[in-house]
Amino acid sequence: MSKISMPRRMTSLFTSLLIAGQLLTPVSGLAQEVELLDEKPAVAEVAVNDTPNRLITTIKGDPSTGMAFNWYTTNLFEDAKVLVSTSEDMADAQEFAAEATEVVNEYGERDENGFFIYEDVAYTEEGELETDENGDPVINGYYTDENVSGPEWTSGDAVGQLHLQEVTEYSYKAEATELEPNTTYYYQVGSQEGGLSEVGTFTTAGEEGETFTFIQYTDTQNAYWNEHARNEAEFGANTIELAIDTVGEENVDFIMHTGDFVETAQVEDEWVDILEQTKETHLSYPFASAAGNHDEYSIGMYGEYGDAVPEKFNEHVNVDAANDAISGGSYYSYDYNGAHFVVLNSNDNKEEDENGESKAFGEEQLEWARQDIEEARANGANWVVLAYHKPIFSKSYHSLQDSDVQAVRDEFMSLIDELDVDLALQGHDHVVSATYPLNYVPTEENFSNGVVADAETTDVDGVEYFVNPEATVFVLPNTGGTKTYDDIYSKGVEHVHAVRPSLEWMTGEDVEYYNSLFAYGNQPQESEAFTDSHSNWRDSSVQNFAVYEVSETEINVKIYEIEGDLTADEERTVTLVHEFGVTKDAAEGTGTEEEPNEGEAASEESTTEESTTEESETSEETSTEESETSEESSTEESEASEESSTEESETSEESEESAA
Ligand SMILES: [Fe+2]
Ligand SMILES: [Fe+2]
Repeated sequence: MSKISMPRRMTSLFTSLLIAGQLLTPVSGLAQEVELLDEKPAVAEVAVNDTPNRLITTIKGDPSTGMAFNWYTTNLFEDAKVLVSTSEDMADAQEFAAEATEVVNEYGERDENGFFIYEDVAYTEEGELETDENGDPVINGYYTDENVSGPEWTSGDAVGQLHLQEVTEYSYKAEATELEPNTTYYYQVGSQEGGLSEVGTFTTAGEEGETFTFIQYTDTQNAYWNEHARNEAEFGANTIELAIDTVGEENVDFIMHTGDFVETAQVEDEWVDILEQTKETHLSYPFASAAGNHDEYSIGMYGEYGDAVPEKFNEHVNVDAANDAISGGSYYSYDYNGAHFVVLNSNDNKEEDENGESKAFGEEQLEWARQDIEEARANGANWVVLAYHKPIFSKSYHSLQDSDVQAVRDEFMSLIDELDVDLALQGHDHVVSATYPLNYVPTEENFSNGVVADAETTDVDGVEYFVNPEATVFVLPNTGGTKTYDDIYSKGVEHVHAVRPSLEWMTGEDVEYYNSLFAYGNQPQESEAFTDSHSNWRDSSVQNFAVYEVSETEINVKIYEIEGDLTADEERTVTLVHEFGVTKDAAEGTGTEEEPNEGEAASEESTTEESTTEESETSEETSTEESETSEESSTEESEASEESSTEESETSEESEESAA
């Protein structure tokens, strides 16, 4: 047994990549020394769990008449089902059979006390993996996460190699159908033989135009290495509990999670941890969820990226998959009380024939979205709300840097402007932001493809409401976990260039313009980590969530901030930090023409029909004429941005780009 100072000997995926790119100095140290064991501790078997677990209730199809469920057991129970009753004692329960799928899940190796076992492998000074004469990695020793701490550990920069063991389990999917609208139901999932879950409850959606409320939170991003250091599943569970308390238990209709449930989707422990710690919420409210990039990430070995696990999200979450397209998640839509929700999948970025540019949203998906939204509008949808993971507009760097987002932003903005999408709920960038209502401008006119809509505003009880903006507001409620990013644009162009060389193309004017698109935005967690570099900071004690109250003619949006370190037993306080609304005429969704209103501050009357119609026609023309040019120019831009980023190693770009 030898005693080492962690930083010198431990190297992780990120560290090794960064050292290879000669970007950073080696990891500067954990809070304490860790003893290296020569012998690997005995690996404990994963315990059998036949009580239905990892249960999540989800919206799939029409939430006024149905609800979907997903859960797991270790062994197969052929008679698995969901029981649904209108009474809490489950009297006269209806039964809906479940479909079981055998899955091979991979769990991190743990010792007999439940601590993860890490292997410390040797790296050369250049950051290359050291191998022996057989080509195997040189292993310095082993240790567990029983006593780890410190920012390098929690941010994932000092984590050793975790090995996984395969366990065959069963994922169950069931749907309750032909239910009554506006009705509270009680349910249990499971089987007679294997046992049933606790009794959960959900309420079906109501009539068109009835007011409803949902909560958005995002990027809980539970990482296995923090289970015993700074448990993100605990922060995530607490964030949504406080959000529900804030809105009032009776007032919450459903919950939208905009992706990155977990950090490393391949490591099943992360799903177990977050779904079980959020169990009470899952038992009480349906989720509607978009997949995040991390929801298909694998652990990788010795500093190399592993293959994506694109099936993991849909194995855990029972949502629709339009076009049967599963690519680290799926895309689908549903109506809730007359509002149309479209959940997109920004993991649609695989290099395939139909998606040569590896766009975050591929051609097939965008064509589906167009048809789906046009159909919804024709059917009288009063609002169209998009939800997806990778932001088009946010205050941290991903929105203007992720190449798969840049490859599609012009096309995406043009499409959603044409379709008059009202709200876009986003994740991925781990900052809080809300834009003004934005319209599309082609790339030739502006790099961001956004311009603040010329919309009137009105005051409703002291809150600014945009009146008939015919434009999209983009919202990002930071994180429900502990990982935060720097709100780089707020700090000016010099800071942007210093911490993001690949955004060197931005001028001071560009940064100013981009900032002017936002009504609100910041990184609420104060940290020295962002002073002169972008850091993978994962020690935040500030989480955010957004609450959307939707009536036939108004949407009210409140962004809240929670502060307090759970791991230090600090009190957690909830503060309203930003509020706005959108209001429009009730008949607009049906396409009925309204006379423009010349009056002031008329919250429920149409005001801008004429001028925006003109505008949108012009912008369509421009966009058609200029679409070729726009591709050219974005290629130029991306080349330029690659050039400018040569200071940063390619590997580091990759690792950072995919990090959120
Ligand atoms: Fe992400
Ligand atoms: Fe994320």
